[in-house]
Amino acid sequence: MAVSQQVFLRDAMRRLNLTRDVFAARVGVKRRALDTWLLPEGSQEFRSMPEVVLRFVTEIVENESLLNKYAQSVQSGPLRDRIAVGGKHQLLSVEQFGRESVEELFRVADLMQPIARRQKVSRVLEGAVLGNLFFEASTRTRVSFGAAFCRLGGSVCDTTGFTFSSMAKGESIYDTSRVMSGYVDAMVIRHPEQGSVAEFARATNIPVVNGGDGAGEHPSQALLDLYTILTEFSRLGKLLDGAHIVMTGDLKYGRTVHSLLKLLALYRGLKFTLISPLGLEMPEDIIEHVAKLSNHVIEQSHDLADVKGADVIYATRVQKERFSDEQLEGYTADFQVSKALIDQYCDENVIVMHPLPRDSREGAHDLSVDLNDDPRLAIFRQADNGIPVRMAIFAVLLGVENLVQHSMRDVTWNPPSHIGPEDAVFHGMY
Ligand code: NCD
Repeated sequence: MAVSQQVFLRDAMRRLNLTRDVFAARVGVKRRALDTWLLPEGSQEFRSMPEVVLRFVTEIVENESLLNKYAQSVQSGPLRDRIAVGGKHQLLSVEQFGRESVEELFRVADLMQPIARRQKVSRVLEGAVLGNLFFEASTRTRVSFGAAFCRLGGSVCDTTGFTFSSMAKGESIYDTSRVMSGYVDAMVIRHPEQGSVAEFARATNIPVVNGGDGAGEHPSQALLDLYTILTEFSRLGKLLDGAHIVMTGDLKYGRTVHSLLKLLALYRGLKFTLISPLGLEMPEDIIEHVAKLSNHVIEQSHDLADVKGADVIYATRVQKERFSDEQLEGYTADFQVSKALIDQYCDENVIVMHPLPRDSREGAHDLSVDLNDDPRLAIFRQADNGIPVRMAIFAVLLGVENLVQHSMRDVTWNPPSHIGPEDAVFHGMY
């Protein structure tokens, strides 16, 4: 097998769109056996699946993809060409993706897991330089894009804020972008104005990734959010089609929810409950876009009790820095996703997400810290997924995704077996 058993099986389940239970039944094995095959190699409970199962699963997947080929005219060619914008290899919006292409990107992210988990190293991007241009506050997006590029063997040059860039001297976006393109091989840009990253992208032929453009989009965050939901659902034996997704907080200015809502809409029959304080509702054009894509149910509310029955609660921070004349009516201490709220309205299989940073200061209420030890809180697993997903984005945009598998070598240092204290609980996921 060219890939690990775990990657192979997860990919098969995703392609067939089957939960663990249904997949186990289709293959004719006990769910418990399947669980042990899905563990990381090297973990104590791990078991190798029999050769006959490997052949059988390969056959079902191949049959399914043959059927798909006849059923719909499958597009071909490298993924980067299929998601290109105006012929350029850039990531500006989630609207560049369809369900097929997003899942193809996730197969590349799965391949990256041994590198992201510090078991393997790769140098497929050796010699390449990333320009990380952040004209707005950032911690995880900037560092995780940088770390993802480094883990593929590239190097990173950073600039942060307007004050220390030539834009403070009146330089245009066009000039900055063109000049940077002479220095680096790819750029990640975060900028406070909606549409500005697209302007950077028009001025260059090197790959540009939108790291957040004002209240516009944050495509890489939405991709890692969707990847997290699919991974958590696979652990819980759920399918995304038909799921109930709740988004809370500042849905007007929160760019992560703008991108995530559009991306989730590629699936079928979802129920979306959009709960915001008064005046911070999801923009109408995004709701219309989602309504056009499939038979989704979209409900808007100002009452947190409407989290009832959610499969996913995605909380967000109020983006006060983007306010013009809004008042925060209705955003009181009760407007908070807390342990009491999810204990009252949701079951033990709900997952609670947040793009982070959560505002932990007094008077901020996006997500309570009393969920910190609750396994339903997926925020750190979500943030960890930023690495494999951003590695996949770079590998695809720079056209090296097919070289990754054979480029991997064992790490020479001794990383901890679990990167976070609570990871052991979710061992089965990785
Ligand atoms: C978000 C952002 O910058 O849009 N953070 C992130 O990138 N993970 C969310 C926020 O700032 O509230």
